[in-house]
Amino acid sequence: MSRPDPAARAEELRRLVAYHNHRYFDLDDPEVSDAEYDELVRELAAIEAAHPELVTAESPTQRVDGVPLGLFSAVRHRTPMMSLDKTTSFEEMLAWGRRMERYITGDVAFNCELKLDGLAMSLLYEDGKLTRAATRGDGEVGEDVTANVATIAVVPKQLGPGAPAVVEVRGEIYMTVGAFESLNSQQAETGGRVFINPRNAAAGSLRQKDPAVTAGRELSFSAYQLGDLEGGPSFRYHHETLEWLRCAGFPVSAHIETVGSLADVDAYCKRWEGQRHSIDFEIDGVVVKVDDLAQRRELGATSKAPRWAIAYKFPPEERNTLLKEIMVSIGRTGKATPFAVLEPVVVGGARVGLATLHNEDQVRAKDVRPGDTVVVRRAGDVIPEVRGPVLPLRPEGLPAWEFPETCPVCGAALQRLEGEADTYCVNLECPGQQVQRISHFASRGAMDIEGLGERTVALFCREGLLADVADIYSLDFERVEAFEGFGPLSVANLSAAINASRQRPLANLLVGLSIRHLGSNTSQVLARAMGHMDRILEASEGEIAAVEGIGPVIAASTKRFFSLARNRQVVERLRAAGLNFAGPGQPDVPQVLRGMSVVVTGTLERWSREVAEAAVKARGGKSPGSVSQKTSVVVAGAEPGGAKMSKAQQLGIPVIDEEAFERFLQTGELPG
Ligand code: IVH
Repeated sequence: MSRPDPAARAEELRRLVAYHNHRYFDLDDPEVSDAEYDELVRELAAIEAAHPELVTAESPTQRVDGVPLGLFSAVRHRTPMMSLDKTTSFEEMLAWGRRMERYITGDVAFNCELKLDGLAMSLLYEDGKLTRAATRGDGEVGEDVTANVATIAVVPKQLGPGAPAVVEVRGEIYMTVGAFESLNSQQAETGGRVFINPRNAAAGSLRQKDPAVTAGRELSFSAYQLGDLEGGPSFRYHHETLEWLRCAGFPVSAHIETVGSLADVDAYCKRWEGQRHSIDFEIDGVVVKVDDLAQRRELGATSKAPRWAIAYKFPPEERNTLLKEIMVSIGRTGKATPFAVLEPVVVGGARVGLATLHNEDQVRAKDVRPGDTVVVRRAGDVIPEVRGPVLPLRPEGLPAWEFPETCPVCGAALQRLEGEADTYCVNLECPGQQVQRISHFASRGAMDIEGLGERTVALFCREGLLADVADIYSLDFERVEAFEGFGPLSVANLSAAINASRQRPLANLLVGLSIRHLGSNTSQVLARAMGHMDRILEASEGEIAAVEGIGPVIAASTKRFFSLARNRQVVERLRAAGLNFAGPGQPDVPQVLRGMSVVVTGTLERWSREVAEAAVKARGGKSPGSVSQKTSVVVAGAEPGGAKMSKAQQLGIPVIDEEAFERFLQTGELPG
């Protein structure tokens, strides 16, 4: 093996040390043991000693921790701020319980507290006045952030009469998810730094030179532990100290429970693991503490952590991984969406290898670059997201990513319209769009051609049988029959399905054309209002916008679509293929259901769901798929949907059967 280049190795070590400093000092969540960390620093110091020319001012060997010297002054904690031992299973929790039995006997009550994901803080009050706020630092020595903490509204600056001579309150500074999101959108708008998560945002907001900046950030505080106390009341139980803190004006979590067994602790942990997203702040586990303070004294501490407390950590929803590449995919409307190709990681219970980056602005705001180590998040059912780069790990000189100027599939120029976030490939012949567009045309909500799914379309495109949607109607079935997996029967079925699609309503055809912004509802509105494809083709943008229910954006995009010669040719070829261009004419059915919203659920005897919904719409009503306050009536057949029925009952919405529905269609009146 060749010897690594000392300059490259020093650079790598500097990044690693900076990163582990960040985990240790800012996040209070070290990834490596102290011994492993020391080994990295020693190796770096050795290289720098041998090659003094490699020493830089930024080297961690020249700095005390992740922050340049002098930004905050160092303060020694009166009593060290210890960390907590961690568990990830009930078995480990039981083992902790057994270890405690060596020191104490008798019953033990436990306080279960949510483990807030923020920064540990020590607040010192002397004669009732907040005199010092300090970060945890390395547990012995922290940073004096008093000026900044004093700007946090919920932190008491002065305690009431009768305050102890000295009291130290420990707790967590954090940011709610709501405050984090609004801060980030504000940051993105003003070109500021976008934060990876609420914890990072809280840390970044606190570590400001100018307290005015901290004052502008919405930070929260929750007290969870009483530190030094002189000249105050004496307590027997932790829960009493929390009650006292609450009365003294400190925010204390409302979710703390005192329980009598580890089985109850386990139930609390499992419950909160399942509902961790039901609250507006992030938690990464549960802290379990022995309630009896005399028992705590008997238990004591190891060199690092008290024996009387333990942290139960939830499985992580965020993981670091390498961003290998940023690629751009082309959708059916030509929309070019950047996405991250990641070194796969298991996060939030799923393996994640790809994650969307939405659009150019998002990539810029997050400043993620190929080669970065990035934070990937997947919480609950939410789609995986790249939150941002881990800056201390960024290799030096890593270039920023530029949105491509040309379509990665067809090479045509990409266009971003003014005022829009998305970029588009406007070449209608782009093969990237072809497959998406043709399979969308054939999909259920559009022309509903069974047997023409995405895989088949991709095959036909590859084989040169399809280039646009009009080609479907002159498909060379002889060639199709020669493909593997296509026998005479499937070809006959496909041909019949294509033929049947010629009769689909105009609205379905409009949906199938993939006109940007024109969805299924607006297609119906347009088809009904215009009555014929030719009217739409001839209409000016203003005439389209004048249709009730069609906004200016849809009107502009529809006009733009039909003004492209290539699209007009496709439309003419569809006409020649005999597709239905006539919309529903002026309604000849009385519009008795105008303004009504009718939800159909379960199986009706004489009506399929689709026909029942169409009958409602033909009479001027709406027929959405779910029950809301706007629902006028629910039509229930056999085996109706449970959620719909209970919602209807909850909102007091009338429910009718099939017979009543048929009368309702004629009269528009509800029984009784
Ligand atoms: S008690 C010796 N209670 O978790 C006990 N910590 O390493 C000190 N944390 O740095 C901690 N919520 O920042 C405690 N309810 C809670 C907590 C909590 C969050 C943090 C704290 C500490 C880390 C554990």
